Amino acid sequence: MGSFFMDFKMKILMSTMLLWFASSALAINTKTLAFGEAYSKLFGHHNIHRSANDRHVRLLLDRSSGSGFISSDMYQYGLFSASIKLPSDYTAGVVVAFYTSNGDVFEKTHDELDFEFLGNIRGKEWRVQTNIYGNGSTSRGREERYFMPFDPTKEFHRYSILWTNETIIFYIDQTPIREVRRTEAMGGDYPSKPMSLYATIWDASNWATSGGKYKVNYKYSPFTSEFRDLSLVGCRVDPIQMLPTSSNNCTAANSDLMATGFSAMTPQKRKAMRTFRENFMSYSACYDTLRYPEKLPECEIVESEKRRFKENGHLKFHHHRRQRSSRARFPTATDRRQLVM
Ligand SMILES: *[C@@H]1O[C@H](CO)[C@@H](O)[C@H](O)[C@H]1NC(C)=O
Ligand SMILES: *[C@@H]1O[C@H](CO)[C@@H](O)[C@H](O)[C@H]1NC(C)=O
Ligand SMILES: *[C@@H]1O[C@H](CO)[C@@H](O)[C@H](O)[C@H]1NC(C)=O
Repeated sequence: MGSFFMDFKMKILMSTMLLWFASSALAINTKTLAFGEAYSKLFGHHNIHRSANDRHVRLLLDRSSGSGFISSDMYQYGLFSASIKLPSDYTAGVVVAFYTSNGDVFEKTHDELDFEFLGNIRGKEWRVQTNIYGNGSTSRGREERYFMPFDPTKEFHRYSILWTNETIIFYIDQTPIREVRRTEAMGGDYPSKPMSLYATIWDASNWATSGGKYKVNYKYSPFTSEFRDLSLVGCRVDPIQMLPTSSNNCTAANSDLMATGFSAMTPQKRKAMRTFRENFMSYSACYDTLRYPEKLPECEIVESEKRRFKENGHLKFHHHRRQRSSRARFPTATDRRQLVM
């Protein structure tokens, strides 16, 4: 009885989410760029394939190498966005990352904002992780992990990182999934030095899937991730001076950034974010009281989120067990197709 009800409720929820995700894809309206306008190859050059019009890039991982690209400029605050399709089939140990960093410039005091996509064994879902480091705070991971409300290997979805001097918001399509507002207590942990945008695919056999239990299996290679709708909005920083100086005028760039609307948290967006987090978040450093007995300064404890988590920050109920024991609780790929129709 309970399971029928859950089935029904979950399906309604999922179709609402899918509709939201589908319709939101159309609403994003930032200028997209050709690869050559703003990006450069970083590593694994032979595994970076650009389309003829230069607006669609494939990053491959095979036995010889992973691959990656980087923005040609560094930005002091900005919106970093791309539509991404992840490799399908058996992808254990494979990581696709879309992130900002300045680790090449500030070795000991680097800043970083991450989307990391963690591959999985066949039949199990990709997961996405977000993280934040500021001024070399590598001993304070601020990870969150989420299941995805769609199959990210089947079609493109837009992933965006919005970073201003006051807030950081991660988006999937038009839904904000995480917001970290700058607090005084965060101090240098709030990223505030210029960063570049990176997109990479690599072999993370030693940690990506079940803590390294499953390695990359090159029988299934090449693993191909695809990027399009590339977009960068923000204040470019002189790569020689590096730190912005008083002569840098970011006024125009900052008003372009505000005009994207990504930094505005409307009540509607906040509600969508809460719904996403209550249904798809599977780990949060904010609820990991074993790791952080004293909570991280920016964490806002939301009761409806918190009661889903154990003291180690992981979900109380095991997602996969749920999926097996009750086809109903979380839609399978087949369910998803039915919902879309
Ligand atoms: C952020 O930048 C805006 C505009 O440049 C400024 O008005 C505001 O005071 C800044 N906030 C902080 C916390 O530095
Ligand atoms: C960043 O770290 C360096 C080295 O530890 C320190 O000197 C500096 O004050 C820090 N910056 C901020 C904004 O906290
Ligand atoms: C920055 O540029 C804007 C327009 O691009 C101009 O109105 C403003 O006076 C400039 N500010 C400074 C401090 O140069």
